[in-house]
Amino acid sequence: MIEFQDVHKYYGDYHALRGITATIREGEFFSLLGPSGCGKTTLLRTIAGFEGISSGAVLIDGNSMENVPANKRPTNMVFQSYAIFPHLTVAQNVGFGLRRDPRSKAEKDKLVEESLEMVGLKGYGARAAHALSGGQRQRVALARALILKPKVLLLDEPLSALDKKIREQMQVELIKLQREVGITFVLVTHDQEEALVMSDRIAVMFEGEIAQLADPETLYRRPNSRRVADFIGVMNFLPARVLGEGNGHIQLDVPGLGPLDVTEEQASAAPNGGEAAVGFRPETLTLLYDGQTPLDREAPGTIDEVVYYGDMTYYDVKLDGVEKPVRISMRNVFGRPVLDVGTRTRVAWSPGALVLFR
Ligand SMILES: Nc1ncnc2c1ncn2[C@@H]1O[C@H](COP(=O)(O)OP(=O)(O)OP(=O)(O)O)[C@@H](O)[C@H]1O
Ligand SMILES: [Mg+2]
Repeated sequence: MIEFQDVHKYYGDYHALRGITATIREGEFFSLLGPSGCGKTTLLRTIAGFEGISSGAVLIDGNSMENVPANKRPTNMVFQSYAIFPHLTVAQNVGFGLRRDPRSKAEKDKLVEESLEMVGLKGYGARAAHALSGGQRQRVALARALILKPKVLLLDEPLSALDKKIREQMQVELIKLQREVGITFVLVTHDQEEALVMSDRIAVMFEGEIAQLADPETLYRRPNSRRVADFIGVMNFLPARVLGEGNGHIQLDVPGLGPLDVTEEQASAAPNGGEAAVGFRPETLTLLYDGQTPLDREAPGTIDEVVYYGDMTYYDVKLDGVEKPVRISMRNVFGRPVLDVGTRTRVAWSPGALVLFR
């Protein structure tokens, strides 16, 4: 649906996009994820045509967008700050893009009503737009974009101004909506959880480049670099020494865990500057309670910090012989006590859950 071919963008001397090559598929929920200033908005705006590019090409539906102005592109954009008109009614806001459309008023009214229904605001048409909550305003902005039936909907942090509860609710609604209308969605977000929850695929960006493009599970389980691993969720790292390799396996020595073996597939693709380390997610480690035996290996340690979240407890554990604690997440179950700081413990772990960075 959208193709970036070696796209570069300079703002004066500043190299904001550094050779972006990627394809966004038709009907896909695609996210651009990365820290502030990495070029997400800039890249989104090159699709919309609000931003020219310095070299390379942007194609939509196989057509180069080089000489196509924003208003002639099959895209529509929803901005971070709800750009709705407070002095108009909800219906007038939603129908705004149709004001020069030759269809009859009755037909347009019907389209407005349909769009409002899509975003869960049926019957709100006559309401003054200023008399809406933040979440409702954002839905009006969505309805206003959807009524034009774009092939691609571009969303620049559309939920970031909403509080956590409403944001999570809107995330679910957006996913449902996208499935219903079948339009290609491109979402910009710096919230990794939001990207994981919502996307079919995610492009993780740093400093004007795509570091990894993959589906959420691959990004989480097989990050191609330490940087991506660090940006997506929590990852523990322990320094590792490579002892040898062959036959698709790599032998390592990891202080705290001991000698171990990983497969070539567990090694990250992108180079990490030669300093080898293993990474593992907090949920791949388990605290063993008295009498429990590990499924695979175990390592002794001492609980250094306890953070209780109600449904979960996060433990920071100092493995014997390692100064830096590792984070372990445990689901709380009825009848099992939360352990105290200072408790000696055993940690179950498995070489198969590790990612090797080197
Ligand atoms: N019009 C401009 N002129 C000069 N530099 C710009 C312009 N717009 C953006 N930049 C710079 O380009 C870089 C990328 O900006 P962009 O807005 O794409 O970042 P972003 O990833 O969307 O960040 P955020 O999460 O903060 O919105 C930033 O360093 C920014 O300062
Ligand atoms: Mg931005």
